[in-house]
Amino acid sequence: MAELSVKLANLTLDNPIIPASGTFGFGYEFAELYDINILGSISVKGTTKEPRLGNPLPRIAECTDGLINSVGLQNPGVDKVLSEELPKLRQVYSKPIIANVSGFSPEEYAYTAERLDSDSSVGIIEVNISCPNVRCGGIAFGTDKQNAALVTKAVKAATKKPVFIKLTPNVTDITEIARACEAEGADGLSLINTLLGMRIDLKTKKPVIANKMGGFSGRAILPVALRCVWQVYEAVNIPIIGMGGISTPENVIEMMLAGATAVQIGAENLINPTVCRDIIQALPATMEKYGITDLSSIIGGAH
Ligand code: SIN
Repeated sequence: MAELSVKLANLTLDNPIIPASGTFGFGYEFAELYDINILGSISVKGTTKEPRLGNPLPRIAECTDGLINSVGLQNPGVDKVLSEELPKLRQVYSKPIIANVSGFSPEEYAYTAERLDSDSSVGIIEVNISCPNVRCGGIAFGTDKQNAALVTKAVKAATKKPVFIKLTPNVTDITEIARACEAEGADGLSLINTLLGMRIDLKTKKPVIANKMGGFSGRAILPVALRCVWQVYEAVNIPIIGMGGISTPENVIEMMLAGATAVQIGAENLINPTVCRDIIQALPATMEKYGITDLSSIIGGAH
C-alpha cells in the first residue's frame, strides 16, 4: 500500500498536498465541492494586521499556461480572520492549518504572527516576504538578505509555532536569502512565490493590469520553481514546501525529488477547483508506476 504521509516540522501530514495561500480562500469555501479533510493541510489567505481592499482593477491578466495577478494582499485583517474566518474553517476541517502572514514592517509581521499563534488550529506560520504587488513591504523584505533576516527574527520571537518563510524567485541568488532566514531560526521555507511579469493590451496599448506589473504563476513556472527548490535544498538544512506550476501527481513527485518535503498547489485551483483532491487520489497509482512505495523516501532523491 502506498505511504503518502510526510513529516513537516513538528506536524505529520497524511499527504504532502496543500492548497497555496491566495488560491483557496479560507478553505471552507471549497468544502461545498468536496471533503477538504483529505488535504494534507491548507495555507489560508494571506493575513495582515489591518483589513486591506487590495489593488485597483483590473488585477488579473491571462497568459499562456498561467496568469498574472496583482491582488495586493486583499484580506479582512487579523481580527476578523481570528473571529470569523478560522472558526468557519474549523467547522469543516479538523487538521492543523498554515496561517500565511504579510506585513509592512518586521514589527507588523510579528504582531500578526503573535495574534495567529493564539489560534489552536494554526500548525505553521508561513511568512510572506515575497509579494510583488505592494509598494513597500512584501517583496522588499524578500529580496534583501538583511531584511529577510530581520523579519524572520521578529516573527520567531513572536510565536512558538514553526515558522516557514515564503521566498521570491525574483532575486539573483535565492540561496543567500534562504541561508539568512535559516540563520535567524526559520523552521522551514516555502518557495516559490510568483515571478514579476506584465501584459500589454493591444487595443488600448496600455498595460492590462492597473498596477502595470504583477506576479506570474501557473504551469509555465514549474521549471523555475524546480530549479529554486533544487538550489535551496543544497543550501540549507530545513524543510522546504515546494510550489510553482504544480498541476499533476507527476509534478508533485518531481518537486519532492528536487527537495520538497511537501508541496503547495496554487494557480491550478483557479482552473480546476478539485485539483488537490484529484492529485491526492491519483498519487498512489502514479507512485506505483514509478516504483515508489513511500513518498517521504524520495525527498531530495534527485541530488
Ligand atoms: C497578492 O495579494 O498580491 C498576491 C500575494 C503574493 O503574491 O504574495
